[in-house]
Amino acid sequence: MRYAVQAEGLVKHYGETRALDGVDLVVPEGRLLGVLGPNGAGKTTAVRILATLLRADAGHARVGGFDVVKEAHKVRSLIGLTGQYAAVDETLTGVENLVMIGRLLGISRASARRRAEELLARFDLTDAGGRAAKTYSGGMRRRLDLAASLVGRPQVLFLDEPTTGLDPRSRTELWEVVRGLMAEGVTVLLTTQYLQEADELADDIVVFDHGRVIASGTSDELKATTGAQVLQVRPLLGEHLHLVAEVISDVLGDRPDLTGGQATVNIKDPKVVPAIVRRLDDLGVVAAELSLRKSSLDEVFLALTGHRAEEEPAEETSVAEMKDKEEVSA
Ligand SMILES: Nc1ncnc2c1ncn2[C@@H]1O[C@H](COP(=O)(O)OP(=O)(O)OP(=O)(O)O)[C@@H](O)[C@H]1O
Ligand SMILES: [Mg+2]
Repeated sequence: MRYAVQAEGLVKHYGETRALDGVDLVVPEGRLLGVLGPNGAGKTTAVRILATLLRADAGHARVGGFDVVKEAHKVRSLIGLTGQYAAVDETLTGVENLVMIGRLLGISRASARRRAEELLARFDLTDAGGRAAKTYSGGMRRRLDLAASLVGRPQVLFLDEPTTGLDPRSRTELWEVVRGLMAEGVTVLLTTQYLQEADELADDIVVFDHGRVIASGTSDELKATTGAQVLQVRPLLGEHLHLVAEVISDVLGDRPDLTGGQATVNIKDPKVVPAIVRRLDDLGVVAAELSLRKSSLDEVFLALTGHRAEEEPAEETSVAEMKDKEEVSA
């Protein structure tokens, strides 16, 4: 397998802070690596080193086969970077921003204009192209930012938390754009704080914590270690809690946590839920609350590290939705 990005033993210290403490990672050509981690985990530091903007204290990295320090100019000609904070010039229009970047890359004025129009169309910004970027919404700005990083047709794209702060719809739209780029063969390294985002887009995921890679693998492999979803059942009658615990233990082979008057357990395969519901029904146990939700990043971290990370809003699957699923599979 050929690697578009290869990093070994990257270290970066800021005084006492170990922003990176020996990070290894690879991104095979044409694939998307998701770098998942909470605030301060070292994601931006790693991206900046790989994008030649920052020098590591130790370790080395190659992008497109070129050393990020010794052949930085070659690396720069291959990559695009959408930083965590918007890099567009607010006073310029969308078109002007993209044309300026094209000109900086040495493209003729006419070609730069054509490329700008093509990118604006692709990012659904044609109508806004003549307006100053400061009038754009957060989602439009992120799209313009991403468009800006594509002017030079990069082979390798670094996206640093491209959807943080976006509403769910803008987030889904941006995912579509990233999928389109992958379909064109672009290699992507994307950082995120959202487990779901890594799950949606990434071929492979590395989890960062305190400047180290604490887990890596495909999304399925990570879920297999941590449990992808969380089932919570609160019986109407408190004395039924032990029955709920027995049923869950029986079906899953895992004992649930019973704090707070409810049974909580990680689930790897949501198909087991209908079986649990049926068994409870047979026993005459009525659930006052029954929910299945995706594991939050916090729970994955807890499972992986034994300590908590930043909280991510978990997605609830309502009982009504679950009943639908149950009927379908029954
Ligand atoms: N220029 C700097 N000077 C001092 N400390 C820094 C600097 N840049 C980063 N750090 C520290 O290094 C650690 C890693 O920061 P980094 O920005 O790489 O994290 P991150 O994973 O990108 O976080 P976030 O999700 O908040 O963007 C943090 O503790 C941060 O405070
Ligand atoms: Mg960051």
